[in-house]
Parts: sequence; structure tokens; C-alpha cells
Amino acid sequence: MKIGVVKEIKNHEYRVALTPAGADELVRGGHEVLVQASAGEGSGLADASYEAAGARIVSDAGGVFGEAEMILKVKEPLEAEWALMRKGQVMFTYLHLAADRKLTDAVVATSSHAFAYETLEVDRKLPLLEPMSEVAGRLSIQAGAKYLERPAGGTGILLGGVPGVAPAHVLVLGGGVVGTNAARMAAGLGANVSILDISLDRMQYLDEILPPNCTTLYNTRMTLHEELAKADLVVGAVLIPGAAAPKLVSREDLATMKPGSVICDVAVDQGGCVETCKPTTHEEPTFVVDGVVHYCVANMPGAVPRTSTFALTNATLPWVRRLADLGPARAIHQSPPLAKAANAIAGRLTCQAVAEAFDMNFHPPEEAAAAID
Ligand SMILES: NC(=O)c1ccc[n+]([C@@H]2O[C@H](COP(=O)([O-])OP(=O)(O)OC[C@H]3O[C@@H](n4cnc5c(N)ncnc54)[C@H](O)[C@@H]3O)[C@@H](O)[C@H]2O)c1
Repeated sequence: MKIGVVKEIKNHEYRVALTPAGADELVRGGHEVLVQASAGEGSGLADASYEAAGARIVSDAGGVFGEAEMILKVKEPLEAEWALMRKGQVMFTYLHLAADRKLTDAVVATSSHAFAYETLEVDRKLPLLEPMSEVAGRLSIQAGAKYLERPAGGTGILLGGVPGVAPAHVLVLGGGVVGTNAARMAAGLGANVSILDISLDRMQYLDEILPPNCTTLYNTRMTLHEELAKADLVVGAVLIPGAAAPKLVSREDLATMKPGSVICDVAVDQGGCVETCKPTTHEEPTFVVDGVVHYCVANMPGAVPRTSTFALTNATLPWVRRLADLGPARAIHQSPPLAKAANAIAGRLTCQAVAEAFDMNFHPPEEAAAAID
């Protein structure tokens, strides 16, 4: 299959959907790889490194879209790209259709075959979302440490303290992928860490794998209040799949927190678990409410594109290969995870959650695949 990689055009998006090593694997697997010139630049990956891996550099996006049978991307196609998508062309990317009706209509109208990273499911897990949660979890502590510094508006406490001076107290709300990675980083820096969750199974697991300066606590209103009063840094990392994040911290709760403490609400992409949270960008990542610094960047991994690109492509590559080897119709029939990833096939909406979100007709992917000629 001819696989095309285009340069991301979303504002401040520096990731790319394939590394040179990934291109090498695909070429070795018998596929042809086309990469738009400078597509990897933002992640420090030169055109020459793709060429050395056997890929062909194409000067512009139009050339890649025009020739490739499958387009690999990171973010959802933007309006300028809709006109370039072709009937029967496969697209594999983060789509997040449920967040955007106009995008959904546009993708369906192209009659392309759009597969979404975020709905690919294996054993009830979403393995193509996980790497970005790992990045965001770890980054939340780096960001938190920075905004706790006095010149950045924080209390001026060092996460790990020093001999003779107590370390900071970090409160992690939700001990899933984001929360576990945040807890590990904070604990590694020497902070005292509390993780609040409501899943006893998860807390048993965390208790076994995390170092002794991490404590798991069952999330009740009373425990949360006690912890908020002690916290220097709060990381919001709760998720109820498919639903808006529950608002665990209310505006009134901020009054019980230390002035200059920091909230990093990673769950902001699902509405946030702090009432006062609203999405921010890397240009202006923070704002202050009632003396508490809020960091609520909705695309945290974008700040570390080099790491994020490698983490993402490590996870996507096996599925890109499978989709390219099988083609869209056989992939849907033979690979249940890829059938789950199918969002819009041959002009039909094939993701039930998106159909429900917009009250649109849902077509099972297998039925839509039958329309692929
Ligand atoms: N801002 C970003 O750039 C960015 C990047 C990656 C992920 N995220 C978001 O981070 C959030 C967390 O993702 P994840 O991968 O860790 O999810 P996850 O499913 O692995 O973990 C969620 C955890 O929250 C717990 N939980 C649910 N309800 C709770 C409650 N009431 N109290 C305490 N804990 C509760 C669950 O038991 C689970 O352990 C998601 O909203 C995800 O979209 C944001």
C-alpha cells in the first residue's frame, strides 16, 4: 500500500505520525512510504532520515493526499485538508469526531475510510490513547514544579524539599494511567504523594507497584477536603469513560487550599475535575482563581513533541502495519480492534458513540465494509 505522512497544520502541533524507524518497518513490510517535506521537523526528524529509511519525500500535502492510499496523521483533519481527502482513501489519526459535528459531516462526505486511534480497543483498553496519558501524567509534575516556583506565581516550594526541610505534598485525583505516571514522577522527586481513587482493585495494584512515599486513599468528600488543605500541587486525572469528568473540587474548596498552590487539571479535555478549570494553551498555560494557580492545557503532549512522537508511533505502528497489510475491508472483518477504530467507512458513520452524540444513523463497520469496492 502507498502510505502517506503529512505535516500537521494544527496550531502548535509539532508531532508527526511516523518516525524514520517506523517508515523503515513499513518499507520492509512491502509498503511504499511518502512523507511530506519537513513533516518531522517539529519533532527533530529530518527529511534525510526518512529518505535513508526508504521513504520518498513529497514537496506538499496535496501531493501526498493525491497519491497515497492511506494517510497517517496525528490530529483530526482540519478544513484545509477536507478537500484533499479522497473517496476510498484510508485515514488513520486521532479523530475525536464526537467533539465536532462539522468535522464528522465533512469526513463522512469524503467517502474515505477514516479510522481513529482513540477508539481502537483491545481487552476493553484504549492502547493508542495510553501513551499520551503517560506523557501528560509525567509532564503534569514538571509543569506543577515549575508553577510552584515563586516567580511563576507559586508558593515557592521545592517538590523534593532538602535535608531538614519537608518536601511538598502532591495530591493526585484518579490513579489511572495519567495518575500513576504523575505519582511516580512526584515520588521520584521526593514529594509526599496521595492518590485518591474509587477503584479498590486499582488501589491494590498501585499499592504494590508505587514507592513508599505514595499513599492510596479511597476518595470520599471528607478525605478529599483533608488532602486539599495539605496539598501544594493537585493533579486532576479522573476519567469516567465516555462521560464528562466529575467535578470533584468546587470553587468553594479553593478557599481551603494554600495560596500559591497549583492545580494541574489533566482531565480538562473531558471538562476537567475542578469546577474552576477551563482549557488553556501552551502560549498561556495558567490562570489564577482565588490565589490558586490553574494549569489546564488541553494538549499537554504537544509541549514535548519529540517524546510524544516516539511514544505515539511505538503504539500505532503495529496497527498501521495491520491496516496496510489487510486493507480497510479485510481489517474490519479480521481485526476486532481495527473494526472498533473504524469511525466513517465509505460515506457511512460507523462509530456508535459518535452517532449517538449527534443523533445520526449508525452503520455497523462490517456492513459499511461491504460497500468498499
Ligand atoms: N490534557 C491532556 O493533554 C491530556 C492528555 C492525556 C490524557 N488526558 C486526560 O486525562 C484523563 C485521565 O486519563 P487516564 O488515561 O489516566 O484515564 P484512566 O481511565 O486510566 O484513569 C482514570 C482513573 O480515574 C478513576 N476515577 C473515576 N472516578 C473517580 C472518582 N470519582 N474519584 C477518584 N477517582 C476516580 C478511575 O478509577 C481510574 O483509575 C482523561 O480525561 C484523559 O482524556 C489529558
